[in-house]
Amino acid sequence: MVFGEGALKAKIMFIGEAPGADEDRIGRPFVGRAGKLLTKGLTALDLQRERDYYICNVCKCRPKNNRTPYEDEMMTCIPYLRNQVALIKPKIIVCLGATSMKCILGKEWRITRDRGKWVERKGCYITATFHPAALFRDESKKILFWKDLKSIKTMFEKLKL
Ligand code: URA
Repeated sequence: MVFGEGALKAKIMFIGEAPGADEDRIGRPFVGRAGKLLTKGLTALDLQRERDYYICNVCKCRPKNNRTPYEDEMMTCIPYLRNQVALIKPKIIVCLGATSMKCILGKEWRITRDRGKWVERKGCYITATFHPAALFRDESKKILFWKDLKSIKTMFEKLKL
């Protein structure tokens, strides 16, 4: 089980899909190859896990063979995620990848078409970007991913967080 980690008073919450093999072994989210890439980008923008953001996943357990979590598995974990949001009270939520985005923003959302868009729900600004693991499969996504991270930092500053 990998629940999440970061600042308990974080203004930004990143939500991925489910822990990968490294995360499952260590018990911490986004510590593998994809997590390191994300952390590197956020560090370059002076956003730090212990100070500025909290990071977790929709599913708290690793699905077998790293498959995309099934709908019922996500639904099982959603109450936990709702409580995490209620306790942390982030002002910005960032969905990492299509699975998290569809679960949080709606099934009609398309990651390539809709990443980088912002919606406001109950005073919280929500956006989605590519899952960092997708950048290893398609390098051309890196530039858009970086653009999205900068937009998150801009929103963070705009909200004077
Ligand atoms: N991918 C995710 O979606 N979450 C993690 O914690 C690690 C990899």
